[in-house]
Amino acid sequence: MSANIIDGKAFAAKLCIRVGEHVANLKAKHNITPGLAVIIIGHDPASQVYVRNKAKQTLEVGMNSFKYELDEDVSEADLLKLIDELNVRDDVHGILVQMPVPKHINATNIINALNPAKDVDMFHPLNAGKLMTGQVGPVSCTPLGCLMMLRDVHSSLEGKNAVVIGRSNLVGKPMAQLLLQQNCTVTMAHSRTIDLPPVVRLADIVIAAVGRAKMVKADWIKRGATVIDVGINRIDAPEKGEGKTRLVGDVDFDAVKEIAAYITPVPGGVGPMTIACLLANTVTTTCLINGLTPPKDLTA
Ligand code: GUN
Repeated sequence: MSANIIDGKAFAAKLCIRVGEHVANLKAKHNITPGLAVIIIGHDPASQVYVRNKAKQTLEVGMNSFKYELDEDVSEADLLKLIDELNVRDDVHGILVQMPVPKHINATNIINALNPAKDVDMFHPLNAGKLMTGQVGPVSCTPLGCLMMLRDVHSSLEGKNAVVIGRSNLVGKPMAQLLLQQNCTVTMAHSRTIDLPPVVRLADIVIAAVGRAKMVKADWIKRGATVIDVGINRIDAPEKGEGKTRLVGDVDFDAVKEIAAYITPVPGGVGPMTIACLLANTVTTTCLINGLTPPKDLTA
C-alpha cells in the first residue's frame, strides 16, 4: 500500500493562519507589530527565491518585513555593523541572515554577533544551548516544522527509533535534540557512518537532511516507517524539455512511498513549513522581547 503523503503546504497554511491571528492580537492589544529583518548577500538564485518568499509571507501574516540585499563583496565589518543596528532596533524582533554567506565572511562571527533574543533561526550558541537544556526559546525553523508534522501523524513519539541523516547545525543537530525531548531513541548518521542502510532500516522515523538527491532508497526503509525529507536538490529533467530542471529531495520518493506509512514530498513538504515556522518564531521572539508569554499553539 502506498504511503500517506504529509501535505506540508496545507499544514503550513494552517500555521500561517494562527500566526496571523497572533499578529493581529499583538497589534490590537499591545500596539506591537512584529518585524522580521532578512539579510541576503550576493545573487545566488535559490537563496533569492527563498528570501523573496520569506518577505512575501511575512507581509501576508501582517508583520513588518525589512529586506537587506547586500553585494557579494560586502565586507564582514559592514555586515556586522548592519547586524549591530538591527540588534537594537525596537521595530525589529527577528533577524535572519540567509546562509550560506560568501567565503570571505566568517559565518561564525556573524552568528555570534546576532542578538540572541532576535535570533529566529536559533543559530546563536546561547539558543543552541537553550534547546539542548530544554529551555524556552525559538526552535530552528526546519526541525520545528518537521516535528510539528511528526506530532500531527503520531499521537506519541515516545520510545520510537529515530534516525537523523545529516549533522548540520541548521537541521541535523537541533532535530536530534527535539526528537530526544520527545523521548525518541535517536541515532545521528552522517557522511562517515559506515554502512548506512542497516542503520536506517532500524528507524520508525527517518529524517533525511544530507543534501544528496534521492540518496535514501526503498530497501533502506522499514515497512511502515515515517519518512521526513528535508532535502531540496535541483536535478536535470530532460523529460520536461532541454535544459529544464526539477526539485527532488534526499529520498527516492516514488520507490520509498511504497514502503513507508507516511512521507513528505519535495516540493510541498518540509519547505513550506520552514517559512511558516520562521514566522511563528518571530511571534515567539516578539512576545519574549516584550515580556509576554509566547502562544503555545505555535510550537510542537
Ligand atoms: N539557508 C537555507 N535554509 C536556511 C534557514 O533556515 N535559515 C537561514 N538563515 N539560512 C538558510
